[in-house]
Order: sequence, then structure tokens, then C-alpha cells
Amino acid sequence: MSSAMKIENISFKYTDNLILRDLNFTVDKGEFLGILGPNGCGKTTLLKNMCNLLKPLSGNISVGNENISKTSHKELAKKIAVVHQFDNISFDFSVHDIVLMGRMPHQRRFSGETKKDYEVVERCMKVTDSWDLRDKKILQISGGERQRVMLARALAQEPEILLLDEPISHLDIKHQINILNLCKKLNKEDNLTIIITIHDINMALKYCKKIIMMNNGQIEAYDKPEIVLTKENISNIYDIGVDIIRNKDKNITYIVPKTE
Ligand SMILES: Nc1ncnc2c1ncn2[C@@H]1O[C@H](COP(=O)(O)OP(=O)(O)O)[C@@H](O)[C@H]1O
Ligand SMILES: [Mg+2]
Repeated sequence: MSSAMKIENISFKYTDNLILRDLNFTVDKGEFLGILGPNGCGKTTLLKNMCNLLKPLSGNISVGNENISKTSHKELAKKIAVVHQFDNISFDFSVHDIVLMGRMPHQRRFSGETKKDYEVVERCMKVTDSWDLRDKKILQISGGERQRVMLARALAQEPEILLLDEPISHLDIKHQINILNLCKKLNKEDNLTIIITIHDINMALKYCKKIIMMNNGQIEAYDKPEIVLTKENISNIYDIGVDIIRNKDKNITYIVPKTE
């Protein structure tokens, strides 16, 4: 299988302390990868390095055979779309305009939006259940609605790789399932490579094909969910006990934290 993205010897620091410590991994094309780990372990920092928003202290990140730091902003935006954990939109654009901005990498300079741009925007807003919000102002919708709008914008970029930083953290259970089902569908039908950070270990177990477990800026495990999400790994990394419950008839596994 060919690789979508290669991360080689990546280290990073904001100030004095190393936040990412010599990370190495390859993401296959068509992968659905979940990145898990405790608060502050470096997940967001890693994602920001993977989209060239932060520059690593050392190492290389490449998409295809191209180093992302040498790829133009516009070309990179056709390959990688990101939904950040905290976006910093402060102008009160309409929701529709925000999603339309996702088409910028595909537009030629000085030429306006095409019919295709509007069609893609409508499709992406409908699949993320944000079409009904189109005339609202971005600053006047809820956190969960905003998460769906930002996903619509990322999809409007028609990328090869989608990076999502905690995409379900503000969503009610129905929208959590809708968004993860949508990711699964795009992954399966369009072979879109999906990389998400996620706290919910049961959702990760259900949806991700591979899991990276991070702790303290390092990768502790990278493999299939059932191999990474063991009692031992969870206990070592989160310092909690869990029971792993398997229902063989229904083919369901559930991880339940011990509360006493
Ligand atoms: N802009 C910043 N300046 C300095 N330190 C930061 C900055 N952003 C994050 N950090 C620190 O880097 C570490 C990793 O943060 P982050 O990548 O956001 O973790 P996670 O997403 O896993 O919760 C934390 O200790 C955090 O305090
Ligand atoms: Mg984070």
C-alpha cells in the first residue's frame, strides 16, 4: 500500500521543553487513523506540524514524495484540509461564505466562484447537516454547529487527507455518530485518508482502522485498535483501570473505566 504521509524524526518545542520527541510513522493512503493520549501530550501540536502551521525543530514531513515545508500553501491546501480544535475566526462572515472559502485552493486568481464551487459547497454543507445554517453568522451559532461548518469547509477543499482535531468534542451524541459515519463513508467510498484526534476510546475502537497512542510527546503504540487499546496500555497511559467487555454474538467490544 502506498503512503499518504510520512513523518520522520519530528521533534518540536514552543519554548524550552521538547513537546514532540523524535516521532516516526507512516500513514497509508486510505487509512483511518485515530491519535489518542492524555491532555497536553502533544496531539494538537503534532497535527499542526502535519499541516505546516508549525515548523518542526528537526525532521521531515512529506505528502507523496514532497516535503510539506517546500509545498506552496495553495498546493498543500488541495492535499490536506484541517479542522482545528480551536479556530480563530473573529469576523462575522456568513456560514455559507466560510464554507465557500474552502474552495480557494481550487480557484484561479481574480476569477470568481464557479458553478462547481457552489455545487461542492452545497453538497458538503448537506452531508455535514449544516446547510440549514447557511444564512446565519458564524459567530452566532453554537460550538457544535460550528464544528460541523468547519468540517464542511474542510471537505469543500476536496483534499486527499483530512486532519481533524477532536471533531466530536462539542457534538451531541447524534451528531457525533453522524460525523464519524460520514468520515467512515468518505474513507471507504472516496479513499479519503482520515487522521483524527479523539478522546472517546470506544468511538476510536469502533471507527479507526489504526490507533496511535501518545504520551508525553512520544508514540507509545501504533497498531490496530484492539492491539493498542489493551487494559495494560490504557492503565499505563491514563493511570486508570478499565474492564474490556466483549459481546461475541453482536461483535461489540466496550471499554468501561473502573470508577472505584
Ligand atoms: N502556543 C503554545 N506555547 C507554549 N506551549 C504550548 C503552546 N500550545 C501548547 N503548548 C504546550 O504543549 C503541550 C502539548 O499541547 P497540545 O499539543 O495542545 O496537547 P494535546 O492536544 O494533546 O492536549 C502542552 O504542555 C501545552 O501546554
Ligand atoms: Mg489538543
